[in-house]
Amino acid sequence: MISERYSRREFLARAGRYSSLSLMAMFFGCDIAGMSGGADQRTALVYASRYGATRETAGWVREGFDLPLDLVDIEQASFNGLFDGYDRFIIGSGVWIGGVHKKVLEFLETGHERLKGKIAATFIVCGTDARTESGKKGVEGYFRTLHSSLEKKPALSRSFGGRIIVEQLTEEDREALTRFYRMYLHQELKSWDRTDPSTAEDFGAGLKKVLEKNVSAFS
Ligand SMILES: Cc1cc2nc3c(=O)[nH]c(=O)nc-3n(C[C@H](O)[C@H](O)[C@H](O)COP(=O)(O)O)c2cc1C
Repeated sequence: MISERYSRREFLARAGRYSSLSLMAMFFGCDIAGMSGGADQRTALVYASRYGATRETAGWVREGFDLPLDLVDIEQASFNGLFDGYDRFIIGSGVWIGGVHKKVLEFLETGHERLKGKIAATFIVCGTDARTESGKKGVEGYFRTLHSSLEKKPALSRSFGGRIIVEQLTEEDREALTRFYRMYLHQELKSWDRTDPSTAEDFGAGLKKVLEKNVSAFS
């Protein structure tokens, strides 16, 4: 469980950007020349999860990727060990009030030089429905923050649906979300699950293909 803290005031201030739930594909222009798809490449999927949906999504991406790939929980990892240990990275983060995980951002900022050309893909796991205009802006905003210290956008980026299980929330999170649901969704907080193994596996398989072809896809 992460230790990030946020105030209710911040939560409500950001609440306008939060709509309901879904997922969306976002393909960006990219340059992955030099990043080969060979199985000899050491690949890490670095992720941050609080309640498990991002961790599970990372596992499904790995299944689709179907090449050796280490799943690395950023909260347990040493940055230097990661920079030195891998040739390319997939980055995944859940989204909570305030956006993606601070330690993921710290990893990308600290590694700005050493990660150049090595970020193959990014994904977020969230509750924002990108089919609406406000949701789309919200998801774009999360990616903007995630990519802020990267020189080039990754080959692939995508948002996946997450999950809330009310009984598993901390008291603080439950209170904050209860207020949010009442105030903005005009309903009581309830559990939901938009995780989707096959979409995440497809993403992993798609990334493998892109890397194997070693093409500057979508550019
Ligand atoms: C306290 C809390 C705040 C959240 N805030 C947002 C948010 O601002 N925007 C969003 O799209 N999803 C939000 N979500 C939904 C999460 O992104 C979703 O639960 C996701 O599965 C979290 O990843 P995890 O299960 O790996 O922790 C929030 C969830 C929680 C528990």
